[in-house]
Amino acid sequence: MTEDGHKNEAKRFFTHMLVRRATKTPNVTASAQLPTLRRRALMPLLEIKNLQLDFVTAEGRARAVDGVSLSLEAGETVCLVGESGCGKSVTAQSIARLVPTPPADYVGGEILLNGRDVLKMSPKELQSIRGGVVSYIFQEPGASLNPVFRVGAQIKEALKLHQPHKATDAEVIRLLKLVGIPAPQARLKNYPYEMSGGMLQRVMIAMALASEPKLLVADEPTTALDVTIQAQIMDLLRDLKQRLGMAILLITHNLGIVGDIADRVAVMYAGQIVELAPARDLLKRPRHPYTQALMASVPRLSGDAKRLNAIPGNVPRIGQFPPGCRFAPRCARAIESCKATAPALLEVESRRWVRCPLWNDARASSAAVAEAERR
Ligand SMILES: Nc1ncnc2c1ncn2[C@@H]1O[C@H](COP(=O)(O)OP(=O)(O)OP(=O)(O)O)[C@@H](O)[C@H]1O
Ligand code: SF4
Ligand SMILES: [Mg+2]
Repeated sequence: MTEDGHKNEAKRFFTHMLVRRATKTPNVTASAQLPTLRRRALMPLLEIKNLQLDFVTAEGRARAVDGVSLSLEAGETVCLVGESGCGKSVTAQSIARLVPTPPADYVGGEILLNGRDVLKMSPKELQSIRGGVVSYIFQEPGASLNPVFRVGAQIKEALKLHQPHKATDAEVIRLLKLVGIPAPQARLKNYPYEMSGGMLQRVMIAMALASEPKLLVADEPTTALDVTIQAQIMDLLRDLKQRLGMAILLITHNLGIVGDIADRVAVMYAGQIVELAPARDLLKRPRHPYTQALMASVPRLSGDAKRLNAIPGNVPRIGQFPPGCRFAPRCARAIESCKATAPALLEVESRRWVRCPLWNDARASSAAVAEAERR
């Protein structure tokens, strides 16, 4: 199957799979003396620890996710940004172990969802968290909806799987209203082809919300939409986050849209996180040269940009990462040692992690700050 085929299969699978609320399997460990509920209240909703994932293809074995660690608190919004091919989707799909194995091979790490390791779950346990704890929305709503069924029936189907006692027209209408679809009573009889891309994405969000997930993973949910509709969908996500209190992992290659919604931002490059920081700090003072370059490539709202500063070159393909710093061939600040030594991700300030020993280069930082302030 092609890579696109796998992605589509994952989307379809997610839309139609059997899901239930997570089973409350007691996670009894010797160290865990606290009552389960209190322990859960103290732990992050999601904790990815040193995740390593390879793809094994005819060309050989290549690492696509290399030591990614990331956590999300309940109700928190984290944006995962980076150019195409950096490993954002593979990391996000791993949270519910949606990446098909093979060709994927989980080589190491842990993905703790409510304290339980997704990588060690049985197929039955996985079914219970998919949709029950974590739901996904993807870039192409059309690919996830069945063209021959009315949207109301499809949302009701999702309710039957997740919350059977709520599988009623009234609940479908409530969900359609929640995601801002006008005249929901009439709309539930529409087929997908009768709706615009923006409306379809709202339907997908309604289906994802049917299970009342604790974590919504939105993988480039606005990329296929025009700019006005993009803004509306982002407003909707922000509103839902406040009203429902769920955590959101929002994947985008556009740093320009994260300021309004993200609590924290993780920047990925070539399978690794290169910067992780509270959104406000990162946008005001990006520390990693890649983050700085990404920000310089975002069009300014003021519209006075002479030209966009595109990052030269491309993200290296998996299996072809250069030795030393993976960004070195494209980094304007690279020095000789960058090509030899792979930098570690270090906490350089409180809650601020950067994978570059030159993160505090005053000249480059002040140029980036000046650029950020001009926006
Ligand atoms: N099924 C697969 N088989 C082999 N390689 C794959 C497969 N799926 C993804 N990859 C590779 O893994 C790397 C990370 O892919 P991923 O889809 O996570 O990137 P991304 O950051 O989400 O990019 P985009 O912004 O284009 O969606 C890419 O190099 C991609 O080619
Ligand atoms: S380690 Fe060197 S090449 Fe890598 S981002 Fe920092 S300055 Fe650039
Ligand atoms: Mg992707």
